[in-house]
Amino acid sequence: MTYETITAEKMSANCGAIVSGVDLSKPLSNRQFEEIHAALIDRVVIVFRDQDISPQQEVSFARMFGEPQPSAMSAFTKSKEVPEIDILEYDAKNPPSVTKDLWHTDFVGTPTPTMGTVLYAHDIPPIGGDTIWVNGMAAWDGLSDRMRAYLGGLWAYHDTYQPYSETERPDMYRRPEDVAHLREVRNTYTPALHPLVRTHPVSGRKGLFVNESMTTRIKGIDRRESDHILRYLFDHLKTPEFQYRHKWRRHDLAVWDNRVSLHYALFDYSEHRLLHRVVIRGDKPY
Ligand SMILES: [Fe+2]
Repeated sequence: MTYETITAEKMSANCGAIVSGVDLSKPLSNRQFEEIHAALIDRVVIVFRDQDISPQQEVSFARMFGEPQPSAMSAFTKSKEVPEIDILEYDAKNPPSVTKDLWHTDFVGTPTPTMGTVLYAHDIPPIGGDTIWVNGMAAWDGLSDRMRAYLGGLWAYHDTYQPYSETERPDMYRRPEDVAHLREVRNTYTPALHPLVRTHPVSGRKGLFVNESMTTRIKGIDRRESDHILRYLFDHLKTPEFQYRHKWRRHDLAVWDNRVSLHYALFDYSEHRLLHRVVIRGDKPY
């Protein structure tokens, strides 16, 4: 894909681009935003380097892609000044408690999962804390014809609570207020049912729409068959060829398309790491 107002350097065959030629502290032209949007659809995740922006400017940029989702829906600490922002701040004494060992898609356990996520790096450890994204459309293309024929038309349940259950994460149930919050999550998010093969609403491409953290069961087939098929798909989605692994730098801003992708945040650092997140509302998968 060629652009006039931006440069998009591909970071792997199937996923990720570093976009340059853009200063996000200044208003974007319509043409610039169209090209940024096109790069996002094409690459699943795009990263802008060396952006010196305020929290309000991050939200304004996120709004160009769609309405922010109220951050009250997430368990992250909220920004008091800019309520659309979730604060992801960790170090050795305060390790990540929510996103731990999770291949996931943000808010997939709701009837209308998010369209995308914007993440801005304020402070990054010298080593570690990378994020890996997977292009679910490349994963779908990478299945055999026979497997695609089998999976076509199936639906699967996605349970937000599954990775945070008391048996899975007893460490999250120590303080009474956390227990109360997790009970509320349990009661609020009944598992959502989505097509196992999702059509991207912009590009029309099909993609595999399951993830290890929250996809619990394929509808209408026996438990053992569902478990084994899902296990195979979770494994397939970890194929390195479908991925981009980003090593963050301070003042990187990443935007990713949650509609047919998943990601994993590594926790392999002890120094301070601070990012601000804005999540953008999405629509009903089909
Ligand atoms: Fe996430």
